[in-house]
Amino acid sequence: MANNQATGFSHEKIETNNFLMIVLILIVVAVGGLVEIVPLFFQKSTTQAAPGLKPYTALQLAGRDVYIREGCYNCHSQMIRPFRAETLRYGDYSKAGEFVYDHPFQWGSKRTGPDLHRVGGKYSDDWHRIHLTNPRDLVPESNMPAYPWLNKATVDPADMAPKMKALRVVGVPYTDDEIAKAGDEVKGRSEMEAVIAYLQVLGTAPANAAAK
Ligand code: HEC
Repeated sequence: MANNQATGFSHEKIETNNFLMIVLILIVVAVGGLVEIVPLFFQKSTTQAAPGLKPYTALQLAGRDVYIREGCYNCHSQMIRPFRAETLRYGDYSKAGEFVYDHPFQWGSKRTGPDLHRVGGKYSDDWHRIHLTNPRDLVPESNMPAYPWLNKATVDPADMAPKMKALRVVGVPYTDDEIAKAGDEVKGRSEMEAVIAYLQVLGTAPANAAAK
């Protein structure tokens, strides 16, 4: 009370009034949040596809759904942070523009296993098939579950066109032609092939762009 009596203003009034304190904190947090978040919706680097990024093919998309269904994200993140320890281990850090075709993105935060954002091209398809069928065959100390049924289950071709149409509504630029051919592309393919196709494309946009 004593300090600012001359101006009639006192912090004590705020600090001793629960209600006023709560309201003012909410205003400060809301303004601070909006200032940080709103610009992200308008920056090109966060809203436009990174160079070299292509929409998932029908087979990769089917694999992405297997990845989500099997809960791979419970143990694997897809988000390499811009720290030296991370870039040395996993490769270049992740950019927002690399995820514009992911609905929803699979960034995750749980890392029981390694980050998978740049796993594309790191191993052969055969490596993945053996690893997913039984991780212990390749990494004896692995505690990753085995997914042998992926070898037997096949992708349902009828699922693909509706999925791609839905993604087009939220901004993935699939052409009518790609949607029409989606069923044929996945016909007779196993879920194992699909999830491997998905893993092999992860994080490859910068390499694609450089190769051009
Ligand atoms: C219970 C946690 C857990 C789940 C669930 C899990 N993983 Fe893993 N994963 C691990 C661990 C731990 C490792 C490291 C040991 C190894 O390579 O097996 C690993 C390694 C990997 C690797 C090799 C990464 C590298 O850079 O060496 C790939 C690829 C992978 N997992 C894919 C998957 C996929 C696809 C799924 C879902 C079908 C999945 N994982 C589900 C724990 C998990």
